[in-house]
Amino acid sequence: VVDIRKLYAQTGMFTFDPGFTSTASCESGLTFIDGGEGILLHRGYPIDQLAEQSSFMEVAYLLLNGELPSPGEFDDFQYTITRHTMVHEQLKTLYNGFRRDAHPMAIMCGVVGALSAFYHDSTDITDPVQRKIASHRLIAKMPTIAAMAYKYSIGQPFLYPENSISYTGNFLRMTFGVPAEPYEVNPVVEKAMDRIFILHADHEQNASTSTVRLAGSSGANPFACIAAGIACLWGPAHGGANEAALNMLHEIGTPDKIPEYIARAKDKEDPFRLMGFGHRVYKNFDPRAKVMKETAAEVLETLGVDDPIFDVARELEQIALNDEYFIEKKLYPNVDFYSGVILSAIGFPTTMFTALFALARTVGWVAQWNEMISDPEQRIGRPRQLYTGPTMRDYVPLGSR
Ligand code: ACO
Repeated sequence: VVDIRKLYAQTGMFTFDPGFTSTASCESGLTFIDGGEGILLHRGYPIDQLAEQSSFMEVAYLLLNGELPSPGEFDDFQYTITRHTMVHEQLKTLYNGFRRDAHPMAIMCGVVGALSAFYHDSTDITDPVQRKIASHRLIAKMPTIAAMAYKYSIGQPFLYPENSISYTGNFLRMTFGVPAEPYEVNPVVEKAMDRIFILHADHEQNASTSTVRLAGSSGANPFACIAAGIACLWGPAHGGANEAALNMLHEIGTPDKIPEYIARAKDKEDPFRLMGFGHRVYKNFDPRAKVMKETAAEVLETLGVDDPIFDVARELEQIALNDEYFIEKKLYPNVDFYSGVILSAIGFPTTMFTALFALARTVGWVAQWNEMISDPEQRIGRPRQLYTGPTMRDYVPLGSR
């Protein structure tokens, strides 16, 4: 009998790192995070400066191309993106096959994966020009696809994109507009939405981005890879946390109930966690959460929304930040803690929250995918494992068992 564990000794060294807490899977020049200091940089630019002064389209250009665009480059990029916003007419039939109450993320996994059945030219990943076109198609079509998922769920007709307005304004119009009426984009809402997109654009090797890279490492086409990223993002420990955080705040309901939930989060016998709190990399304030909190206050004021849930969120944050358990474990609000308050004030149902995250993160996914495929040293991703099953044994025929 061979002891399989002994075989490891003969196959060379490898590290055992469950959850990849300390293993870099790639080199990347896109995004830098200093989790201890709460710093996030895209191509060297701090996230708060980008959120305050830039636009989502500009950040998309920056992540894809490495530098901020000149005015001419920016115009060309916007023009290209707005010329790819439409989806193939036959995709409508695909939507019609879903149940009306299907989760938008379920629809998006299917529809984005299905794009590879429509854009055959973009599936040739060996051609850099096709890779660029595929990237532009994905970034441009995500707002259309997400808005269609929403419209389908409420039984309203789909709206075609209107390419004369901004990327974000167009998304808001396709989501909240109706064909028979003109739709005025509220500039404060547009700015807030654009900022939310910037804050979600990329975040180095998080679970969904790693999924996109791993899928892409085998040579899979970009639409399939992004569909894989969407599937991973859906989980409540990742992109699904914004939906879960708002549901939790509603469940808490009033500030007097907060201590009860804090106690539950600390109780190791209770699986409950404070959603929107904690992060694998940030052991300090998530810099995106700070911008999100300010944006929430601005949006609620502009829209005249007096949402008691925002008070619950602020109070919960204060209590948690002064609690020994959260201090010791370095648990701070993450990007998802306040985003739900803003999105629900704008009018999105909670089921759309993660779909919006997917829309924005598509920029990071395609930028990371391009970076990986362009690397001449790129190899298929193939993690190892530490085998814990039975050692080698002889097969026993069915009748003798
Ligand atoms: N509430 C209560 N306790 C928590 C929380 C929380 N939100 N997060 C972590 N902890 C505790 C854990 O129980 C663990 O305690 P222990 O040391 O006594 O076992 C310790 O803090 C470390 O937690 P891990 O789960 O080991 O940390 P990990 O890095 O694996 O997980 C994660 C990070 C998944 C984000 C986690 O903090 C969590 O589940 N948070 C809530 C979900 C959430 O908000 N996710 C969004 C992340 S941001 C994003 O994806 C965009």
